[in-house]
Amino acid sequence: MEQAKVMAISGAAGGLGPTVARAFFNAGASLALAGRSEEKLVLLLDTLGVPPMRRLASGVDLADAAAARAWAAAVQERFGRVDVVLHLVGGYKGGASLAELSLSDWNELQGMLIGTTLSVVRAFAGILKRGGGRFIAVTSPKAQAPTAKSALYSMAKAASDALVLALADELRGTGSTANLVVVDSIDFPEARGTEPRKPYGKSTPAEEIAAAMLFLCSDKAATINGARVPLTGKTA
Ligand SMILES: NC(=O)c1ccc[n+]([C@@H]2O[C@H](COP(=O)([O-])OP(=O)(O)OC[C@H]3O[C@@H](n4cnc5c(N)ncnc54)[C@H](OP(=O)(O)O)[C@@H]3O)[C@@H](O)[C@H]2O)c1
Repeated sequence: MEQAKVMAISGAAGGLGPTVARAFFNAGASLALAGRSEEKLVLLLDTLGVPPMRRLASGVDLADAAAARAWAAAVQERFGRVDVVLHLVGGYKGGASLAELSLSDWNELQGMLIGTTLSVVRAFAGILKRGGGRFIAVTSPKAQAPTAKSALYSMAKAASDALVLALADELRGTGSTANLVVVDSIDFPEARGTEPRKPYGKSTPAEEIAAAMLFLCSDKAATINGARVPLTGKTA
């Protein structure tokens, strides 16, 4: 990164978040992390050694539009600006055939994957329109190529992607961008230790996702907007 940035990272204490947060912190960024569990966020910030002046941990249900707006306002108030929003909220439900799909799974996925994206996009769109900002979310190839056993997840990711691409359209000409990075699955450093024999052939290492995000947040990526950046090379 060319200069120290203020990062708002949603779903930061999940599988991918810690690696991404570490990469941006090491690049000089301040971290404003959100997720449902404030405790997990504080633990992550402590583990990374983020000093008080460069951290904010907010325990919020981001499916709640008012809570997401309050988080965006808190980041603004704390740091005076927001440069980058990384939307990393995730979760998966799948495995059922179409006749067996569960409405409660759909309700859960709707809130988790569509509701949170809608709230976060709405909360930060006005800030990003001031220019020079970045919004990045992580999606799956299933959003464009659903499989029989992933219908609900595919539907939810497709809707979430649509929101990010709509934001990209709204940001056109402002100097800010919104993009998607695409991964089949993620190879987390922690999982390598606990599941040493799991085949990671189709997975993208978390460090490579963080590196792609750092590039998308750099000045050199100022013209990349509304893109699906595929980090799925290992499956080709
Ligand atoms: N993992 C994969 O293989 C894979 C594949 C393709 C795409 N992706 C995408 O990559 C991104 C990161 O994946 P991941 O595996 O790191 O995700 P994850 O661990 O499943 O989820 C990240 C965090 O989202 C938070 N979260 C869930 N619902 C929330 C809500 N309503 N409000 C606030 N926070 C909420 C959870 O925090 P709390 O614990 O505090 O609730 C969780 O730690 C996600 O967008 C995911 O869809 C992942």
